[in-house]
Amino acid sequence: MKSFTRSIELGARLHRCVPGGAHTYAKGDDQYPEGMAPIIDRGLGCKVWDVDGNEFIEYGSGLRAVTLGHAFEPVLQAVREQLVRGSNFVRPARIELEAAESLQAMVPGAEMVKFCKDGSDATSGAIKLARAYTGRDLVAICGNHPFFSVDDWFIGASAMPGGVPRATRELTLKFAYNDLASLQVLFDAHPGQIAAVILEAEKEAEPKPGFLQGVREQCTRHGSVFVLDEMITGFRWHNGGAQAFHGIRPDLSTFGKGLGNGFSVSALAGSRDLMRLGGADHDRERVFLLSTTHGAETHGLAAALATMKVYRDEPVVRTLWERGERLAAGLRAAAEAAGVAQHVPILGRPCCLVFGSRDAQGQPSQPFRTLLMQEIIERGVLATSLVVNYSHSESDIDRTVAAFAAAFDVYRRALDEGIDKYLRGRPVRPAIRPFG
Ligand SMILES: Cc1ncc(COP(=O)(O)O)c(C=O)c1O
Repeated sequence: MKSFTRSIELGARLHRCVPGGAHTYAKGDDQYPEGMAPIIDRGLGCKVWDVDGNEFIEYGSGLRAVTLGHAFEPVLQAVREQLVRGSNFVRPARIELEAAESLQAMVPGAEMVKFCKDGSDATSGAIKLARAYTGRDLVAICGNHPFFSVDDWFIGASAMPGGVPRATRELTLKFAYNDLASLQVLFDAHPGQIAAVILEAEKEAEPKPGFLQGVREQCTRHGSVFVLDEMITGFRWHNGGAQAFHGIRPDLSTFGKGLGNGFSVSALAGSRDLMRLGGADHDRERVFLLSTTHGAETHGLAAALATMKVYRDEPVVRTLWERGERLAAGLRAAAEAAGVAQHVPILGRPCCLVFGSRDAQGQPSQPFRTLLMQEIIERGVLATSLVVNYSHSESDIDRTVAAFAAAFDVYRRALDEGIDKYLRGRPVRPAIRPFG
């Protein structure tokens, strides 16, 4: 059995100095089987090594930010070159223009762009801009999509709204994915009051024909700003994001994660008409749009420029889809052979797969998710999702399938004989929950 002695010790120390024991809830040890939450020492490509010396093939690296692979040399090279040229000046650096023009050239809806550090900066900037542009306060978010921002407009509507004023919570409304009628209900109930509609183009469910176009039409008809959150779909579905993949034109779109291969850089992009409110060349009230000390930190932009170049020069997106297809096919066949295909569905687009975990009654089950993770971690695969990066080789995929195949046998036995016999610790819990 793998040893996690050092990880357990450092994890306990982390809990003493960092609330929740991790700087991002989704990385918390409550997301992993008990006693099997590795603290990472380093990563390279699709592999990571923990402080106990265990090696893992990792999926969903950097919460899906590391799309090329850890320590990807062309990106590191660009960052190193920039580091010795200075990271922050009293005036804009040339690289701010180069990075903005590069994003403009890749993303169809990016007439103007403003860089920031986290995805939340970008989505919250989009909401503020939409409110200013429309003079309205309400925001309609897709209720099936798990996360848009750390800021109050979204967290107030989440399962963990502590600290968000009631008045703010009431400004956020929810509609259902693939259900245009549910959005129309909001527009009918709040005529002329909804500033923005925000959603991801897709998660595990693909859009029904006409759904995204319908959202576009409803926004136009009701004078609301259509914000497409491309944090995950951007630099994964297509070089031009899900907007290029699906041929839709949002008013604003937000990028992060894959934009900088794990470096801290995100972007709000959109139509000139809206974005220019953040400038001064108009006679409307100005909007304080994403003006921060570190927004244009030069080595973050160097990482973004280099990452975008790799996407343009190499078949990154095609490879993500191909590796994902190989993974999905292998896992589905292994699940079928073990008799758990109904219990462990492989969901989503090949470039962004996740696994489900269902109990003997076919209900989603956190204990069974934990059991599956317990068994794959033991076999050298660290995966809360099955999201590939450009560095996963075919042999990494095949090794992953072999690890899952062995885990599926245990899963089947646990379905037949009871999970308590196989699950060694407490089950994982949702990252965003109201109480401990
Ligand atoms: C779809 C989506 N939007 C926005 C965010 C927020 O990004 P960040 O965590 O970089 O602030 C996330 C983060 O997980 C996300 O998945």
